[in-house]
Amino acid sequence: MPKFEGLITSKLPAVGTTIFSVMSKLAIENNAINLSQGFPDFNCSDKLVELVNHYMQKGFNQYAPMQGVIGLREQIAIMIEELYGTKYHPESEITITAGATQAIYTAISAIIREGDEVIVFEPAYDCYTPAIIVAGGKPIYVTLSQPDFSIDWNAVKKLINHHTRMIIINTPHNPSGSIISENDLKELDKLTKNTDILILSDEVYEHMAFDDKPHQSIARNSNLANRSFLVSSFGKTVHTTGWKMAYIAAPENLMNEFRKIHQYLVFSCNTPIQYALADFMKEKENYLELKHFYQKKRDLFTKLIRSSRFSFEACSGTYFQLLNYSSISNEKDTDFAIRLTKENKIAAIPLSVFYHEKQDNKLLRFCFAKKDETLEKAAEILCKI
Ligand SMILES: Cc1ncc(COP(=O)(O)O)c(C=O)c1O
Repeated sequence: MPKFEGLITSKLPAVGTTIFSVMSKLAIENNAINLSQGFPDFNCSDKLVELVNHYMQKGFNQYAPMQGVIGLREQIAIMIEELYGTKYHPESEITITAGATQAIYTAISAIIREGDEVIVFEPAYDCYTPAIIVAGGKPIYVTLSQPDFSIDWNAVKKLINHHTRMIIINTPHNPSGSIISENDLKELDKLTKNTDILILSDEVYEHMAFDDKPHQSIARNSNLANRSFLVSSFGKTVHTTGWKMAYIAAPENLMNEFRKIHQYLVFSCNTPIQYALADFMKEKENYLELKHFYQKKRDLFTKLIRSSRFSFEACSGTYFQLLNYSSISNEKDTDFAIRLTKENKIAAIPLSVFYHEKQDNKLLRFCFAKKDETLEKAAEILCKI
């Protein structure tokens, strides 16, 4: 195809091929164990597949309602209320989305205008900034404090001004594996009280908070819930990242604005999967067991690499474990990650890619959402480095 000869002014000039694609390709080329990407190497429940099949066979194959299948929205309202105490109305305050990424993009598009500022904590999951920029907004970065990746609320306070429109939080946090505390929610409440600031709370790992520490959902605090979009993802909760199914909950006036964009971006999401999830999520153990399942994997992985030269604090949530390699090498984290993949046959993500200025802390992110045998093989390699 000949090149388009006209003028294209990129809306996202800084966006290129992500390290995620680079590392995955490299892992395949080098036949390396891939702990770089955030998805399981095991299958989802057979029962869930059967349910999807059932609804497909039964002919539930046409457009779902724009807001999502009501049975699923009702089930989500029940789960949120039982777990965090806030009641969302399934009709007007919950929408099913094509993944959390679409929910996040849509919420930002619905709210952010030219010149609005959005506070983003770094290291940050990579989909926030492009959405803010395309909407004409300005990301204002706050670096999470090391070594525990906690939030310095005084630093946040200093950055708030009349342009601040939104604060994005993410707990349990990708890539650090940290979780926020009840006190963090109180600080956020204090900071936003009597302001027009909205919160986008990315809680896709809500069912993966470990060591009996409760997940601090925005929905535990009614003041905050009242100014927030809460996002979660079935991809993470039921091991189906490839299905791109998620949801967003928010007060009605925020949800109305959200749906104005949502209906023209995707209109509605996969019908048979929504019916299947509505049934599947009725069984509480299908989400309440997740934290035990992943805590076991974290404990296995960290036990097996205890004698390695990497240093680490076991993560508090998510399925990511950070490892510090400063006693092994001085290399830049991207160079070290590439060398590990090529020479040692194990792939991870260098943490610097989650900072807009590519801050290098000699940390790599490893995903432990893998079969035990994969984790055992990975640990054997890591212990030899
Ligand atoms: C913090 C965070 N938010 C959002 C997403 C996107 O979720 P989904 O696959 O449902 O779009 C991910 C996926 O890795 C994530 O880690």
